[in-house]
Amino acid sequence: MSAPSAPTSSTPVPAAASATPGHRRILVTSALPYANGQIHIGHMVEYIQTDIWVRSLRMHGHEVYYVGADDTHGTPIMLRAEQEGITPKQLIEHVGKEHKRDFDSFGISFDNYYSTDAEENRVLCESIYESLKAAGLIDARDIEQAYDPVKEMFLPDRFIKGECPKCGAKDQYGDNCEVCGSTYQPLDLTNPYSVVSGATPVRKTSTHYFFRLSDPRCEDFLRSWVNGLAQLEATNKMREWLGDKGDAKLADWDISRDSPYFGFEIPSAPGKYFYVWVDAPVGYYASFKNLADARGIDFEEWIQPGSKTEQYHFIGKDILYFHTLFWPAMLEFSGHRTPTNVFAHGFLTVDGAKMSKSRGTFITAKSVIDTGINPEWLRYYFAAKLNHTMEDIDLNLEDFQARVNSDLVGKYVNIASRAAGFLIKRFDGRVLDSAMNHPLLQLRAAVPQIAALYESREYGRALRTTMDLADAVNAFVDTAKPWDQAKDEANSAALHETCSVSLEAFRLMSLALKPVLPLLAESVEGFLGIAPLVWADVSTPLSSSQPINAYKHLMTRVDPKQIAALIAANLESVAPGQAVAAASAAVSKKAAKIQEPEAEGVISIDDFAKVDLRIAKIVNCTAVEGSDKLLQLTLDVGEEKTRNVFSGIKSAYQPQNLIGKFTVMVANLAPRKIKFGLSEGVVLAASADDEKAEPGLYILEPHSGAKPGMRVK
Ligand code: 2FM
Ligand code: ZN
Repeated sequence: MSAPSAPTSSTPVPAAASATPGHRRILVTSALPYANGQIHIGHMVEYIQTDIWVRSLRMHGHEVYYVGADDTHGTPIMLRAEQEGITPKQLIEHVGKEHKRDFDSFGISFDNYYSTDAEENRVLCESIYESLKAAGLIDARDIEQAYDPVKEMFLPDRFIKGECPKCGAKDQYGDNCEVCGSTYQPLDLTNPYSVVSGATPVRKTSTHYFFRLSDPRCEDFLRSWVNGLAQLEATNKMREWLGDKGDAKLADWDISRDSPYFGFEIPSAPGKYFYVWVDAPVGYYASFKNLADARGIDFEEWIQPGSKTEQYHFIGKDILYFHTLFWPAMLEFSGHRTPTNVFAHGFLTVDGAKMSKSRGTFITAKSVIDTGINPEWLRYYFAAKLNHTMEDIDLNLEDFQARVNSDLVGKYVNIASRAAGFLIKRFDGRVLDSAMNHPLLQLRAAVPQIAALYESREYGRALRTTMDLADAVNAFVDTAKPWDQAKDEANSAALHETCSVSLEAFRLMSLALKPVLPLLAESVEGFLGIAPLVWADVSTPLSSSQPINAYKHLMTRVDPKQIAALIAANLESVAPGQAVAAASAAVSKKAAKIQEPEAEGVISIDDFAKVDLRIAKIVNCTAVEGSDKLLQLTLDVGEEKTRNVFSGIKSAYQPQNLIGKFTVMVANLAPRKIKFGLSEGVVLAASADDEKAEPGLYILEPHSGAKPGMRVK
C-alpha cells in the first residue's frame, strides 16, 4: 500500500482553488474520550477543531462523515464502576449519555456517536487480530508482571506506587519518576504498593500476546508511510521513534491483558483480553460501520486497500505514537487501507497554567452551559488560537472576554444591527440590487481564501482575515454615516446603498464564520431569509426579491460575572456559595475597576478568599545548584501532578530533613519563571521582622491528620 497522499498542510496555505478539487468522500474522527470522566474544555479544543474542519468541508458539498465514540474498556473503568457499586456496562451507558449531551451543546456535529463496547467493534477487532496472526505478526510470550495478591489482578503501571529507584522520591508511579524524570519498570520501585488494595505486589508470570512491530515489514512500511504525514513535527517525532534503518528501534507491542479486565476476550485465548488501545482506534471503524449500516453506505469500500475515500484522525499530541505507529501498521497488515492523515494539536492551558481543579480552571463542558456561557464564544476563541501545528494554546479569560466582545459583538454583529433598522423602516426590508456590485464587495474574493485556510487548519488566520474585512466594512459605514444620510430624504438612494452594501458584506462574513459559529449562522440565515449558506453562495448576493426579517439581537456580550461563575462552578472543595462570592468578587471588581475604600493594610474577606491556601506534602527536596538561598521542593497538593516550588529556605533546612513533611502553600499564585525553572506557588514560612537581629526561618506545619490538597480557610 502506498504512503498517504492527502494534501499536506505543514506547507503554506493552499491556493483557493485547491479547496474544491471535485467531489470527495471523507471520514473524519476525533480521539475517543474515556468513559470514566467528564468532558472538559481541554477535550473540547479537539472536538471544536475537528468540527470546524468537517463543517467547512461539508460546505463544499463533499460527502463527509464525522464519527466518534466513548472509549469504554480497560482497568480504570472497571475499577471506577466497582467503586461506584455498578457494573462497567451501567457506568459506560450513563457516561456515554453525558458525553453526547456535552458534544451536542457545543454544536459538535457527529454523524454518529457510538461506543467501543459494541458488537461491531468486537467483530472488527477479532478479524484484524486474526489477519495479523495469519500474517505472522502475533507472538505469544511469557512475561513477569506485578500482581496484586489481595485484589487478585495484574496491576497496570499507573496502579503501582513506591519510591523511585534512582532518587528515592516517595509516591512515584510505576512507570516514571516525576521528580528526577527517570523511567523504569514497576517492580524496580522501592517499597512498591498497589494503589488498589495497598498490598505489596508480587511478581507473577503470564502469557501475553504481542504485535510484532519490530518485524522488518512493519518498519519498512512505517518508513514509507511517515513521508505523507501533514505535520513536520509529527514526521520528525516518527523518524525519531523509527531511528536509522537497521536500528531496530521499534519494540513489539503487548496487546493483551489478563482477567479481570473489562474488554473483549481474545479469540482462542480464554482469560486474555485485548488491551484497550487495540479496540479504541478500531472503535473509529465500528462507529462508522454502525452509521454505514444505518444509512446504506458501502462500509467495505471505505476500508479496503486502495480505497478512493479519505480518512483523517484528529488527536492530541500525547497519543501520536498510537495513531502513527500502531494503528497504521495494524491496518496495513490486516489488509485495510491506512489513514490519509493524522492531525495532532497541542494542549490547552488556562491563564498560562495547566488546568487545575484547585484554581477552578479544570472547566467542564457542562459548567460552561450551566453558567450561561455561550459555547460559540469558546468555539470562536479556540478557533482564533488554532493553527496547523502542535503548539499548545492558552485560554486567557480576560482576553477571551475582550476578544469575543470586540470581534463578534463590536465588529461583526454590529454591522447587521446598523444596517437592518434602516432597511426595514425605509426600504421595505429589501436591498438595492445595483449595490451588490459596489467596489467594497470585492471583499468577497477573500471568502474562498478563508475556506482554504480552514482546510489547512489555519483557523487563526481565517478569523483574522475575516475580522480585517469587518474593519473595512465598519470603516465604510463610518465614512458613509447612514445615521446622517437618514436625516435627509434627498439622500435616500445613498442610504439604501450604504445599508445594502453593508448587509451583503455581513452576509459574506457570516459565510466565512459559519464553520466556527454554526448556530449564529442559522440565526443569520433566518434573519436574511436565505437558504443555509454554503461556500458556493459567495457569488449569490442578497436580492431585493427576498426581503429581510426584523433584526433580533444576534449575540450578547460576555459578562465578567459569567466568567466568575464559571470559575466558581469548577472550584473544588469550596462550599458553592463561598466560591461564587469569592470568584465573582475577584472577577467583577477587576472588570469594573471598583476601588473599595478599605483601611490601609486591611483586606476584606473577599480578598482573603482569593488566596488558595492548601496543605502540601513535600515529596522531594533538593539543593539548587548555583543558588545559596534556594531549595527546590516537589509538593503533592492533591492534584494529578506534583508542583515544583523554589523557596528561599536553604539557610534553615537540610533538604533531606524536609522530605515527607507537610506544609502550607499558596496554590493559586501565578507561576513564576526564575533562572532555575518554573516556580508554581510559594510555601509559607515565618521569620522575624528583623531577620538580621533574630535569624531563623520556620516552615508552617499542620497538625497531624491534614492531607495533601486540603484547603486552609
Ligand atoms: O487518550 C485518550 O483519551 C484515549 N481514550 C484516546 C483514544 S483515541 C482512539 F484511539 F480511540
Ligand atoms: Zn526519581
